[in-house]
Amino acid sequence: MPITKAVIPAAGLGTRFLPATKAMPKEMLPVVDTPAIQYVVEEAVRAGLSDLLMVTGRNKNALENHFDRATELEAMLEAKGDQRRLEAVLRSTNLATLHYVRQRDPLGLGHAVLRAQMHVGHEPFAVLLGDDLIDERDVLLERMIAVHDMKNATVIALMEVEPQAAHLYGIATVETTDLDDVVKITGLVEKPASGTAPSNLAVIGRYVLQPEIFPILEATKPGSGGEIQLTDGLNALATGDIAGGVYGVIFSGRRYDTGDRLDYLKAIVQVATSREDLGPDFLAWLRQFMATH
Ligand code: G1P
Repeated sequence: MPITKAVIPAAGLGTRFLPATKAMPKEMLPVVDTPAIQYVVEEAVRAGLSDLLMVTGRNKNALENHFDRATELEAMLEAKGDQRRLEAVLRSTNLATLHYVRQRDPLGLGHAVLRAQMHVGHEPFAVLLGDDLIDERDVLLERMIAVHDMKNATVIALMEVEPQAAHLYGIATVETTDLDDVVKITGLVEKPASGTAPSNLAVIGRYVLQPEIFPILEATKPGSGGEIQLTDGLNALATGDIAGGVYGVIFSGRRYDTGDRLDYLKAIVQVATSREDLGPDFLAWLRQFMATH
């Protein structure tokens, strides 16, 4: 059965970006001229996923509005003959079929994914976290779906990180397979205390999950940070070798983190400098700016 569904958790309060996120969802923070969430939706659509479920919460109405029609704005741009901006406005409207469910209680990523159970039913599905942006020139989700189809198992995305950063991620213990970029996961730990990480392979925010994750998440007790962690559910799938176990695709392309302020600034610079319309001018200015600082 081809995978068509994606779940995008977007219920976080965005406290790291206050006051910007006092009245606006953090997912709407722009990376250049496009909200962070739109990059993620576009990535899912590129990978062939057409049925998207966003897990939201209070104060997240702007997300629904962004992917809905904006008829007044469209009429105004049409009357002006501003085709370019009209296309930009319509793009997010026509991307995919979006569904929404509210998380209600902020009990963690595992709990947010569990809210998708009714919508997903008994079929494999993807999960994309909005804080991680994957450069559209690098392929990740398509590869994960291919590995899922090959192994009929859960697949997660891994990236090598510096040991000092391991405490910010889920960290995997792995065995090699006959494929260079694919490993078998033997264990996972969410945000290990500094100096205790079992490897330098960090989980990044893309998952292709078997539906067997749902009953496991239902039984998962709060873990790191007192929250129900997706990583703990995945560890149970991996160690119990349930529904094919868990494989990891090792990603070595470009990933932009928008999860905290410094990384968000870096993401904007990285995306802006690679844009055809703004990149050359921005880079020239940036070089000059660096030379005087
Ligand atoms: C989440 C996951 C973590 C993963 C990370 C990737 O953590 O719980 O396992 O490594 O995303 O970005 P968060 O960054 O939401 O705290």
